[in-house]
Parts: sequence; structure tokens; C-alpha cells
Amino acid sequence: MKKWTLNSWKNYPAKHLPNYADQKELDLVLSKIKSYPPLVFAGETRSLKKALAQVVEGKAFLLQGGDCAESFAEFQPDNIRDTFKAILQMSLVLTYSASLPVVKVGRIAGQFSKPRSAPTEKKNGKELPSYLGDNINGMEFTEKARQPDAKRLFRSYSQSASTLNLLRAFSQGGFADLRQVHLWNLGFINEKTKGKYKEIEDKISDALSFMEACGINPDTNRKLRTVNFYTSHEALLLPFEEAMTRVDSTTGEYHDTSAHFVWIGDRTRQPDGAHVEFCRGIKNPIGLKCGPTLKPEELIKLCNILNPDNEPGRLTLISRFGADNVEKYLPKLIRFIKKEGLKVIWSCDPMHGNTIKAATGFKTRPFDNVLKEVKNVFSIHQAEGTYAGGLHVEMTGQDVTECTGGAQKISERDLSNRYRTHCDPRLNATQALELAFLISEEIKKNSKYSKKIIQAAS
Ligand code: PEP
Ligand code: CO
Repeated sequence: MKKWTLNSWKNYPAKHLPNYADQKELDLVLSKIKSYPPLVFAGETRSLKKALAQVVEGKAFLLQGGDCAESFAEFQPDNIRDTFKAILQMSLVLTYSASLPVVKVGRIAGQFSKPRSAPTEKKNGKELPSYLGDNINGMEFTEKARQPDAKRLFRSYSQSASTLNLLRAFSQGGFADLRQVHLWNLGFINEKTKGKYKEIEDKISDALSFMEACGINPDTNRKLRTVNFYTSHEALLLPFEEAMTRVDSTTGEYHDTSAHFVWIGDRTRQPDGAHVEFCRGIKNPIGLKCGPTLKPEELIKLCNILNPDNEPGRLTLISRFGADNVEKYLPKLIRFIKKEGLKVIWSCDPMHGNTIKAATGFKTRPFDNVLKEVKNVFSIHQAEGTYAGGLHVEMTGQDVTECTGGAQKISERDLSNRYRTHCDPRLNATQALELAFLISEEIKKNSKYSKKIIQAAS
């Protein structure tokens, strides 16, 4: 294998990268960003990798969620807080009901660039370049907005930094105190889901009182008042990822300091492509989206390139086949991975294979199909004797109407009420919580996991 360097990806074909008209300006912007502080510290990405190694062992569960695409327009503290809250509430349901620690990773603080199925968009007879994410061009359907503008990277860097700052404050500053989290007012969440949550809330209150009586409380025990919350995004815009990649002075290793975890999308995972080349050289935990066109042999090749030492926690395979396709594709991949003895996390993205166009013209995802894919994935892993260790979802803490169905029974006609996503439809807070309840039931159902839980506790 050829030597990896920070920019060796440039020798390989790269899909889904924008063409900047002004290369000089791009270089100038990137050289500035290279001199900016890292967003995350290498020691943190190492802790995440350790936590993910526990997931590989079946001793923890990975929860990864957030916007499909963050946007400049939706940049507000309430949005950050509510996404953080929704992830913590899902995580509480999973931890409590399934007795598993949850590794929490947001699709946040850097999830801007998007691969698009078509390079151009047509509207009323006019054709313009597609919207590629707020750090590349604008969503507005005008010639000017759709031109890639390198200066947008300053804004996305700064938005990521402030978002991360708030997330760190929430995680460590007392907001995530277990005494508060389980009592969070669930606002618009529907009654049935609220009822189920209330049950957990009461049980946690009892557990906290018991611990308090034993002298264990959030004031004396840091773990009860803080959480580890990590960030992630798709490593799509390679010039930016390269600019954020730094040598860790304590180990001499390269870390992409734009996030703790980055993933390679389903459209850019060619073994001889630029995205795989870039990701193989950085030490962060890496995700790989696995869709219907991925052949098992190719997956093994990718694992060997991305994780040649078979290090647990380094590689997360994120399956995204669609509710009705998963049966056809996933078992084969699982068998190949098992045969090769590869240590990976199997995470399930029940969003990207279930996107449809509603009669009203909106891109949507029927919540029932999301649930169905998750259920299918769990039963496939159970049948194969492997661990369904993670969930990867597009979600928000807001009460949006982007995915149909769920306890609020959102119809295709309701979609226009609060359809705010800049790209794909997200689960709202109620749907996200319902999904967490379903998963905890699936985990409990599987006796194999219970055995592992007992082992982990002993
Ligand atoms: C995404 O996760 O936003 C995405 C584009 O997914 P995929 O690469 O699986 O299509
Ligand atoms: Co998406």
C-alpha cells in the first residue's frame, strides 16, 4: 500500500466534491483554517474509541443522532439544547430499560456537507447546481446562492465551535444531572409516550433515592451529573477535513480534529477513492455506510484498508438498506465479516433506505418503515449470532412534521406544517423517543444480550 500523507487523497478520484470557481480564495481560506484551534482533542477521540470497543463486545450501545444537515438558519441555542435533550432522553430509556451503557454521539457541530443524487436541480424550467450544504453553497434557488463559496467555511467552523462549546457546557456543567434529566418536561410529546416515560421516570426516582440513602448522589458522584457526549459528521468535504487534521503531539498520530467520529457515506466509499484514502490515515473512530450496492468482498477490502490492525472501536458499519431490503443484503455482509473475524460495530441507520416522495411533493419517511427496518435488523443479528450494537438516526428535538406516522399520526398533508429540514426528513422528539422504547424492547427480548449484560455486570 502506498504511503499515506495528509493530502494523498488528492491522487485518487473523489466523488461529490464541489468545484470552487476561485481556487486561490479556497486555498487562502483553508490555510487560515489550518491555523485555527482544533475543535476536539485527540485524547477525547481516544476515549470514544475505547467506549466503542465496549460496544463491539456487546457491553454498550451506540446512539448516534442529529440533523441530516445543519444549517446557518437553524443555528439557535434552543435547537442545540433540544437535540441534546432528545438524545439524552433516548439514551436514558435505553440505559434504564436495557441495562446497557449508551455511547452518545451527535450528528452535530460539523454536519454540513451533503452528497446529492443529482448534480443539478430544475425548477420552473430553470436549472441550477444542487444545494450541497451550508458550508458549500446556499439553499436559495438563485444562480448566486448556488455557487460554491469558500468563505462559508469560516461560518461553519465558527458555528461548529459555538455548538460544541454549548454541548460541552451542557454535558459537564450540571445540565445533564440525572436528577434533572429524568424529570425533563416532555412538552409536546404525546400522552402514550409520555406515560411510558413516566414509568421510567418513577423508577429512576426510586433508584436515586435508594442510592442517596446509601450515600451515592450526583454531588459526590461525577458520573451522575455529567455525560460524555461526542460529535460526528460525514467526512465528505475533504479539503476542509484535511485542514482540520493535525498531528497529536502526545503520540505523533494524525487526528481529524473537526469531530470525534467521522463517517464515509454510501456514495463515496469506493476502496480506491479519495474519501477512503483520507480516512485510512486518521486515527479517529470511522463509520462506513453500507447500502445495497456494497458487495461483501468489497466490504472486507474496505475493512482491511480502514482497520488493518482489526482494532475494536475503530470501525462502525452502518447498514442502511431500507425496511424491505435488509433481509436481502445484511445477512451476507454479516457472514463475511464473521468469517474474517473482523471486530466491528454493527449500527443500523433506518433512515436513508426509507426515503420516499409524498404525494404532496415532500421527501418523507414513514415512521412504520423506520421501525420495521430496526426490527428486521435486530432479528437478523439475533439469527446470525451477532450484536446489533448501534442506531444512527436523523432526528431533532423540535416538534417538526417531516416523517409521517408515529404516535402523533402525522399524515402526508401535515408535512407542510413544520417541515424545516435543509435536506432529509428527521424524526421529531416524540418519534425518536418511541424508537428508543422499541429498541430497548428488542434488546431485552434477545436473551443473548441479557447473558452479556450479566457478564458485564459481574
Ligand atoms: C447521511 O447520512 O446523511 C447520508 C447521506 O447517508 P448515506 O451516505 O447512507 O446515503
Ligand atoms: Co440524510
